Amino acid sequence: MPDAIAYGGDWSPEQWPEETWEQDVALMREAGVNRVSVGIFSWSLIEPMEGVFEFGWLDRVMDLLAANGVKANLATPTAAPPPWFGDTYPEALPVDADGRRLYHGSRQGFCPSSPIYREKALRVAEQVATRYRDHPALALWHVHNEYGCHNARCYCDTSAAAFRAWLRSHYSSLDALNEAWGTAFWSQRYSEWAQILPPRATPTFPNPGQQLDYRRFSSDALIELYTAERDLLKKITPDVPATTNLMAGAHWDMDCWAFAAEMDVVSTDHYLIGARAEPHIDLAFAADYARSLGGGRPWLLMEHSTSAVNWQQPRNLAKKPGELRRNSLSHLARGADGIMFFQWRASRAGAEKWHSAMVPHAGTNTKIWREVRALGAELAGLEGVAGSTVEAGVAILVDHSSVWAQDHPAQPSTEMDPVEEAKRWHAALWRAGVTCDLAHPEGDLTGYRLVLVPALYLVSDAGAANLVRFVERGGVALVGPYSGIVDEHDRVRLGGYPGAWRDLLGVTVEEFFPLDGPIRLASGWSGSVWSEVAQATGAKVLDTYATGEPAWTRNEWGEGYAHYLTTRLDDDGLAEVIAAVTAEAGVGPAADAPAGVEVVRRSHPDGRSYLFAINHTGEDAVVTPPAGEPVTVVAGDVRIIPA
Ligand code: GAL
Ligand code: ZN
Repeated sequence: MPDAIAYGGDWSPEQWPEETWEQDVALMREAGVNRVSVGIFSWSLIEPMEGVFEFGWLDRVMDLLAANGVKANLATPTAAPPPWFGDTYPEALPVDADGRRLYHGSRQGFCPSSPIYREKALRVAEQVATRYRDHPALALWHVHNEYGCHNARCYCDTSAAAFRAWLRSHYSSLDALNEAWGTAFWSQRYSEWAQILPPRATPTFPNPGQQLDYRRFSSDALIELYTAERDLLKKITPDVPATTNLMAGAHWDMDCWAFAAEMDVVSTDHYLIGARAEPHIDLAFAADYARSLGGGRPWLLMEHSTSAVNWQQPRNLAKKPGELRRNSLSHLARGADGIMFFQWRASRAGAEKWHSAMVPHAGTNTKIWREVRALGAELAGLEGVAGSTVEAGVAILVDHSSVWAQDHPAQPSTEMDPVEEAKRWHAALWRAGVTCDLAHPEGDLTGYRLVLVPALYLVSDAGAANLVRFVERGGVALVGPYSGIVDEHDRVRLGGYPGAWRDLLGVTVEEFFPLDGPIRLASGWSGSVWSEVAQATGAKVLDTYATGEPAWTRNEWGEGYAHYLTTRLDDDGLAEVIAAVTAEAGVGPAADAPAGVEVVRRSHPDGRSYLFAINHTGEDAVVTPPAGEPVTVVAGDVRIIPA
């Protein structure tokens, strides 16, 4: 990462006549832009016919950037194969679960397991890398774009064969696979590897183990495409870092933990979902996730929007004045060392012409441009923040395999959405002002004092043991209902739920009782969606249902405590329980602040630090740091207080 905060967006000069380019770079300078992503969707221009490469325009673009002191995240253009690709190699186009082939005319039109796609993608990537290996504008490889955004799973015959190969490398024998998938059920026992298919459309529920492994395989296939490109780029430019933009927190088809492990710098995209009541809390979740994916290292916000997105939803909301700045600084507060947008100049044509940009259709005499310029100036003054990190004493466990397994349609309640529940617990911490990380169940938990497990239906033996060890050594854990239920193959852990943590929690659950309405607890709080008939087998009961059965329990285990909830507490109750466990673990907010004011600290190892106070409310607020004078943060404003 450079010493300055990276600032800019996706620049697509190929969509514009060359006369615009000079104006673009002049405006970039005016706005303090020091970084742009280029070439992302330019395959059909770089290779207009198969094997014919044309770089003149990109040479001029790169030179123009270098001459103006703007660095490039240079993309490999492999996210959008040109029309000739699908035309010549229809067998390399993706196929959906119903067997429909999807044609070119959009983007990501390729089968992730297609050897033809891989060959052509690596060839164009090699051309780009060889051409610009020594270019002074080159700062970072932007490999592909949002892997799996549209083609995460392909069901074609090539993918079927690749799936079988994946299975063979993960199972010692066909017997082991039959055992793992529980194929004795519904007469699914396989007698030949060749009989195994992707979970294509079936008369009713597919086999859960098959579906789960297909998700794993599909994620791995995309990661493999990334690493293949990355390895090639590293051969040509060993010193240029590589990344690809994830969609952390928004898109769960790719295993972000596994993906991020392959990146020199983690980058991600985030867009506000207008339908959410407090989209800035969802933003915080995504930012905390991005930081955690890199083990706390500074990360790069590769894309967000200056205002409205251009998606298929009833209305795409524009950002209100000041929102762009608050959003950007919230990402910065949570560890980003770069703030970038999709995109630099709003497109005149194409499927995303209604997506906002740094330079809107209306030009520079606009709210957006003024805010973009002001933000550039502000970030230039914050270069001291670059490289600093965010400390968190709390971690929330999230795992893609668990999300995938729970996504099987045959569940006790489809209302148990694990991602929304993780976000709800994160939001409770956000409201309490407590900064948290996300962690993989098998990840290193030693630095945390409190671990939250909102909804981890599936956990491996190693993940289960990891949490037990964490509590044993003095940690506090809070486990939500329907967690620790199945093993890594989605097979029930027997003998009373939650099989993974019965001893740790001192609780045994004999039956689930999904709810069709709220249920009142002795404490006065309510639960909804879910309840369980449980017995405390060692834990202290802290709250009960009217029947007297436990709703909230706490067990002493080793040096620590393990709490369990048998229902989905409403927001108020959850806030109280989280207040109790944070107090027990000795973790607190970064500063004293009223509701709706986000406070996060970034620090350098030498002690220099920055307290970010972001006021999302319509009222002025007083923020009191633990050491230091109270400061007023005007309604909608952001204050960054160095210490
Ligand atoms: C991202 C994508 C961009 C653009 C943006 C706005 O998912 O990477 O290319 O499509 O969304 O919709
Ligand atoms: Zn395929």
